[in-house]
Amino acid sequence: MDTQTNFSSNLQPITGYGVAKVLDSAHPGFAMDDLVWGITGWEEYSLISDPKNFFKIQHTDVPLSYYAGILGMPGITAYIGFYELCAPKKGDYVFVSAACGAVGQLVGQFAKLHGCHVVGSAGSPEKVDILKNKFGFDEAFNYKDEPNFDATLKRHCPEGIDIYFDNVGGKMLDAVLLNLRPHARIAVCGMISQYNREQPDGVQNLSLMVSKEARMQGYLATNYYHLYPKYLETILPLIKESKVVYVEDVADGLENAPKALVGIFSGRNIGKQVVAVNCL
Ligand SMILES: NC(=O)c1ccc[n+]([C@@H]2O[C@H](COP(=O)([O-])OP(=O)(O)OC[C@H]3O[C@@H](n4cnc5c(N)ncnc54)[C@H](OP(=O)(O)O)[C@@H]3O)[C@@H](O)[C@H]2O)c1
Repeated sequence: MDTQTNFSSNLQPITGYGVAKVLDSAHPGFAMDDLVWGITGWEEYSLISDPKNFFKIQHTDVPLSYYAGILGMPGITAYIGFYELCAPKKGDYVFVSAACGAVGQLVGQFAKLHGCHVVGSAGSPEKVDILKNKFGFDEAFNYKDEPNFDATLKRHCPEGIDIYFDNVGGKMLDAVLLNLRPHARIAVCGMISQYNREQPDGVQNLSLMVSKEARMQGYLATNYYHLYPKYLETILPLIKESKVVYVEDVADGLENAPKALVGIFSGRNIGKQVVAVNCL
């Protein structure tokens, strides 16, 4: 086998969360024509050998793409991080970073429904406008225009922060630590500002966790899938009554998927990035 062949034979499609129709199944839990969501390949047809984390779609009176977002992994990520980890109380001051993304837009809306005061950060004036006028955030700012995050947070969260839903990590996390209220909770959902860094940002202000008696917890949504039925029961009526809205950014065709993925790291996407492939 030459090097070239060896290289090619190791190629595997990239995987990601997808919504699909079952064409054939040897598994007793899935039958032909079932609609499902779970991890598929970036390809038109996937062979799923282990459907452990595949969910059968029972409700089709909503857009099927929602099962890649609000009704899928990002939805349960927002729900678990906010309700289970942050134990919100009415009147809490909540701050959400990457607030216009797949997860953040939901956290902000959940927090408003819970009677919290909500501030969000995002990377463009258009996103700031959506946060305030579509998702109902009380305050929002474009972090790319802000040279000093501590001063920015003091301006937008003058009372301090009870709950920080962290999607970005890095310098924003460090500035949040300077603005915590007593008994604050931080859900460490993700740290997108650090993923492509050779040298991660250091965090300087952790000692404030002691004096503020704060709690910070990371989590993986996949370890909470047993709560998915409970989440669906909560979220479906909210969608149908338009109490929660969901913004998607749809790229058309598999050939546009790489550009869509790379765009997430510069904030090109507005809302949940979806790629429509050979639509059902
Ligand atoms: N714990 C879990 O189980 C779990 C599950 C799903 C996702 N996550 C994490 O949750 C976070 C949000 O995911 P998502 O699916 O909502 O994201 P998303 O919709 O893909 O959007 C990510 C957004 O992050 C912002 N961003 C990109 N680079 C940034 C940087 N250097 N600094 C600050 N913001 C940056 C961009 O918006 P701007 O225009 O605002 O910059 C981008 O649109 C990510 O960190 C992800 O890894 C965790």
